[in-house]
Amino acid sequence: MAGSAMALVRTPEQHPAHAELLAGLLSVPKTLPSKYLYDEEGSRLFELICDQPEYYVARTEISLLASIAAEVAHALRDRSVLVEFGSGASVKTRLLLDALPLLSAYVPIDISQSALSAAALAIRGDYPRLNVMPVLGDFTRHLTLPTTIDGRSIAGFFPGSTIGNFSPSAAVDFLARVRRLFGQGSKLVVGADLAKTPRVLVPAYNDAEGVTAAFNKNLLTRLNREFGANFDLGSFDHVASWNAAESRIEMHLVSLVRQRVTLLHRWLDFAAGETIHTENSYKYSPVAFARMAAQAGWSVERRWISDNPEFAIFALSAD
Ligand code: AVJ
Repeated sequence: MAGSAMALVRTPEQHPAHAELLAGLLSVPKTLPSKYLYDEEGSRLFELICDQPEYYVARTEISLLASIAAEVAHALRDRSVLVEFGSGASVKTRLLLDALPLLSAYVPIDISQSALSAAALAIRGDYPRLNVMPVLGDFTRHLTLPTTIDGRSIAGFFPGSTIGNFSPSAAVDFLARVRRLFGQGSKLVVGADLAKTPRVLVPAYNDAEGVTAAFNKNLLTRLNREFGANFDLGSFDHVASWNAAESRIEMHLVSLVRQRVTLLHRWLDFAAGETIHTENSYKYSPVAFARMAAQAGWSVERRWISDNPEFAIFALSAD
């Protein structure tokens, strides 16, 4: 075959992102994986959400972590590598890095190239003695670590209640994969928002400024730009609701009219009022979380819970 130019044409189904998007949009009810919210604009809007008065989640985790950093560091003892799932560089990462002076390497893993590069650059600048090894990838699909850290003791950091974006079975599956990847003796620090009254939860996902609405609708902008769709942004609205039976906040995009949209050479029909389910944010009880961790081979070594609004940080141990 050498020398002959072979054009590789992929049908939508052979392109992993296309297959995933179509599977969701052609199913009933329509869904989209929430990770697609995080392109460059989505990551920027998420940072803005964290500044909204109603979105207590990030602020609460940061102040809890600030008050317990030394205790968390003690739970992690002398683990030499910190692996973070989701974009780092933020206050949370620094709180932990500052409490772990013996750490030799930091491995941030993120799906967003822009967020990852910014994170690596910022951390390298401020922690010159730390070996920063960013990994670009979708950790919901496959987990890899730089081979240079083989055999070293690992501490994982999974903040932000991102675990709440997985279904409970996907969360157990993810925790079990991390457990296998890290090996015996490793630790994992997980931040998880806790169940509470919908009077606090719902506004957190429907702020008055409309930043969360813009974040949700950016998904359609992205489908238009990257996947040749023709969504009319004006005919979809952001909706956030509390599903008590499933203990989760749901984000949807509701079609305000009966309409037809095209995407990847398909027609997508919407009834008036029909939604695309774009995100779940599960809110656990501490006991339910510990049960999931146990199913995945982790035990809760320590746990810290903030005063109202309640947010939990768990130090898990793989013994
Ligand atoms: C990325 C998991 C922290 O579920 O609270 C914020 C994402 N979605 N507002 C969450 C999000 C809407 C967020 N996390």
